[in-house]
Amino acid sequence: MASHTPVSIDNAKCVLVIGATSGLGRSLALAISELPSRPTVIAAGRRQDRLKELEDKKLATLQFDVAADEETLKKTIDSLVAKYPNLDAVLLASGIQYQVDFNKHVNLSQVNKEMHVNYLAPVAIISMFLPHFLKLSAESRPSFVIPITSGLALMPSPYVPNYSASKAALRSFSISLRAQLKSTHVNVVEIIPPLVESELHDEQGTTPMLAKFWMPLDEYTTKTMEGLRRGDEQVAVGMAGTVLKRFEGLDQPFPTAGIERERK
Ligand SMILES: NC(=O)c1ccc[n+]([C@@H]2O[C@H](COP(=O)([O-])OP(=O)(O)OC[C@H]3O[C@@H](n4cnc5c(N)ncnc54)[C@H](OP(=O)(O)O)[C@@H]3O)[C@@H](O)[C@H]2O)c1
Repeated sequence: MASHTPVSIDNAKCVLVIGATSGLGRSLALAISELPSRPTVIAAGRRQDRLKELEDKKLATLQFDVAADEETLKKTIDSLVAKYPNLDAVLLASGIQYQVDFNKHVNLSQVNKEMHVNYLAPVAIISMFLPHFLKLSAESRPSFVIPITSGLALMPSPYVPNYSASKAALRSFSISLRAQLKSTHVNVVEIIPPLVESELHDEQGTTPMLAKFWMPLDEYTTKTMEGLRRGDEQVAVGMAGTVLKRFEGLDQPFPTAGIERERK
């Protein structure tokens, strides 16, 4: 495996958490805001009432829809960077999940929406933050791109085939992005959760069944914060950690040394 110099999240000064209005994003946003380094945390999501509750907990907030058009995303991100020039971490926790049964009618607009919110929007948002993070890097300042994928990126669930594929796409992208940015101070940290207590499955009515197996949110948050503070590049806990071990050595990008030599 390629060597990696761990960079702890304790180095972050200002962290944007997208998808902070519930579940993993909310819990991680609050935990990050309580780090000894006391970074500024900006909690983003669509639901204003939930954002208000986080404002009461002294977090900065931003009403933000990751599925907005490209121009709106760009304007929002540029004004955020102008307002918070120290912004040096973006954690992408927004996500949706639908069950799809290909034996029956397939709702293709749902399939598209899931791929958009879970994969295309994170790629767009990351690409819009990178010029700022590369500027910080030129001043030798670290920054963090932190996508949340899923254990289902490693081992798909047939109940949620398109969701699993969207997370596999985001994981693959994260591995390549890390390779492209390896000579910069931009750290790509992939969070790979197992099944965890949250509102993700409420829409499908599967919450009562899954609640028998999921990891409690507090336990999940504690273990994930340990990985983020250690500076792990892939933070996989519980079952996701067990599955990830099976991929050890296989999760490296395709070697590009020959191609890079050709380019010069
Ligand atoms: N829970 C699990 O078992 C599990 C396992 C593996 C991976 N994950 C991943 O972990 C992440 C967090 O999920 P969760 O389980 O905490 O689910 P959750 O409780 O349903 O939270 C999802 C978050 O995403 C936000 N969101 C959804 N669509 C959005 C949009 N268009 N624009 C902005 N924000 C949007 C929601 O905020 P608003 O509705 O306010 O916009 C909410 O804050 C997701 O990426 C999920 O795929 C979860």
